[in-house]
Amino acid sequence: MAAVNGAVENGQPDKKLPRPLRDLAIQHTKIFINNEWHESMSGKKFPTYNPSTVEKICDVEEGDKPDVDKAVEAAKAAFQRGSLWRQMDALSRGRLLHKLADLFERDRVILATLETMDTGKPFLHAFFIDLEGCIKTLRYYAGWADKIQGRTIPVDENVVCFTRHEPMGVCGAITPWNFPLLMLVWKMAPALCCGNTLIIKPAEQTPLTSLYIGSLIKEVGFPPGVVNIVPGYGPTAGAAISAHQNIDKIAFTGSTEVGKLIKEAASKSNLKRVTLELGGKNPCIVCADADLDVAVECAHQGVFFNQGQCCTAASRVFVEEQIYQEFVKRSVEYAKKRLIGDPFDAKTEQGPQIDQKQFDKILELIESGKKEGAKLEYGGLAIGDRGLFIKPTVFSEVTDNMRIAKEEIFGPVQSIMKFKSIDEVIKRANNTEYGLTAAVFTKNLDRALTLASALESGTVWINCYNALYAQAPFGGFKMSGNGRELAMYHRVRDQKGPTNLSDRLYILGHQPPHIKPSNRKK
Ligand code: NAI
Ligand code: MG
Repeated sequence: MAAVNGAVENGQPDKKLPRPLRDLAIQHTKIFINNEWHESMSGKKFPTYNPSTVEKICDVEEGDKPDVDKAVEAAKAAFQRGSLWRQMDALSRGRLLHKLADLFERDRVILATLETMDTGKPFLHAFFIDLEGCIKTLRYYAGWADKIQGRTIPVDENVVCFTRHEPMGVCGAITPWNFPLLMLVWKMAPALCCGNTLIIKPAEQTPLTSLYIGSLIKEVGFPPGVVNIVPGYGPTAGAAISAHQNIDKIAFTGSTEVGKLIKEAASKSNLKRVTLELGGKNPCIVCADADLDVAVECAHQGVFFNQGQCCTAASRVFVEEQIYQEFVKRSVEYAKKRLIGDPFDAKTEQGPQIDQKQFDKILELIESGKKEGAKLEYGGLAIGDRGLFIKPTVFSEVTDNMRIAKEEIFGPVQSIMKFKSIDEVIKRANNTEYGLTAAVFTKNLDRALTLASALESGTVWINCYNALYAQAPFGGFKMSGNGRELAMYHRVRDQKGPTNLSDRLYILGHQPPHIKPSNRKK
C-alpha cells in the first residue's frame, strides 16, 4: 500500500487527496500480550459497530480481569531489572518511537480508514487531524527519550546528592472513543519514551485502531510485554486496570463520573498515580470588538468539530449584547451549510454520533433546551433513515440555569448566550464544576489578558480555537481533571518545582493559523 501523505496546499485540499480503503479487511481483533495475539480467557467476544450504518463491523475478543492479569504479568516481566527493555539505552528507545512514527506514516490511510469505520468521523479529518497529531506526538517524545536528565543538588561538602528521572513501572491507559488513536498515542508515547511498560484498554465502541497498533509495535521491534492491549468493557476490564495492585500509574480520558471511579479504585488498591482528562463545559467569549468572521467560524468549528464529541467543545458561547443578533444570524448560516453524511465522502464535515446511548442523550438534552425556553434557531432533530446522525443545532436566548448550559452535551449543539459586562461574563463563565478550556475573541489586548487570567481553565485560547501542540501541556482545572498530558509532563518521580501550583496554558492566535475562515474578507 503506497503511503499517501498530506495533500493540502495553500490550505486548500487538492486533487491528490488521500482516498479511504472502502473494502479494507479487519486483521486484528484479538488481545495483544507479549507481542502475540490471544483469545479471551472467558472465550467471550463483543461486537463493534459502524455508527454510519449501525451495522456490525466484526467481533473482538472481550478482555476481562484474568486477561488484564495476564497482560500485567507480561508488562511487569518486561520492566524487570536486567530485561531487554530496562537495559536498552535511551537513544534506542527514541529510535523505536521514531520507527513507530514511520509506520504510522506508511499506514496512515489504513489507520484513518479504520478510525472512520469505527467512529464515524470524516475520513479526511481522521487523516489530516488525528493522524497528524499522532505522528507529531510520537516524534516529539522520540526526541525526548535521551534528554531526560536529573540534577545535582548542592548540600553538605562531603555529600554528593543527585536525582535521576526514572520510569514508574507498569502504566495503564484507558482511552475514549472520540479520538481513539490520538488519545492512545498521547498516553503511550510519553510512557514509552521514559522506559515504562503499558497496558492499554481502548473504549469498547472503538477497539480497531488500537489493536492495529499492536501489529506495529511488534513490527517495530519493541520487546515482548512492553505494550499490551486488552479490549473490553469499562466496568470489567477497565475496572480491573484501575484496581490492579501491580499497575503503578493510570492515564485516563473520558467522563468525569468514571474519572472519579478510577481515582477511588486507585486509592483503595495501591495508591497508583492517576492522570485524568475529563469533561468540559467550555466558555467561548466573543466581545463586541472581535473580528466577527474569525469568531463566528471558530465558535462554529469549536463546537461542531468531531460531531461535537470533544472535551474541548465550545459548548457555551457568550456574546456581547451589541453584536448578539448578528452573531446568532451568522452562526445559523454556518450551521445550515455544514455537510452531513457518509464520513468516507471527501465533502462530509459531520458524520454520525458514536452510539445509540450518546445519540439518545443528545436528543434528550435538545428537548430539554426547547422545554426550558431556549430559542431553537436551527436543527434540533435527527436526520437520515439509518445511522446516528443529528442535524447541527443552534439555540439562542440560552440562560445559565438551563440544562444545555450546564451539562456536557457531547454533540452538535451550540448554545449562544448574551452578556453585558466583562465582570459579569467572568463570573458566569466560571460558574461551572468544569475547567478544561476557554476561548476569548477580542482585538483589545487588555480585555484579552484580563479575561484570560480570570477564567478558571487549563487552556485559554485567544482569537483561535482547538490549538493543541505536542510541545504544550494540556489538562484541566476543577472537575475537568488532574495532571497534564503532552509537553514535558512525562516527568516521573521528581517534580520540577513546588507541586501546589496549577499550570495554565495561554495560546494567542494572530491571523489564526488553525482555521481558514472561508468567508474572511481580505
Ligand atoms: P466513559 O467514561 O464511560 O468511557 C471512557 C473509557 O472509560 C472507556 O474506555 C470505558 O470503557 C472506560 N470505563 C467505563 N467505565 C469504567 C470503569 N468503571 N472503570 C474503568 N474504566 C471504565 O464515557 P462514555 O460512557 O462512553 O461517555 C459518557 C460521557 O462521558 C460522554 O457523553 C461525554 O460527556 C463524556 N466523555 C468525555 C470524553 C473526553 O474526551 N473527556 C470522552 C468520552 C466521553
Ligand atoms: Mg465501533
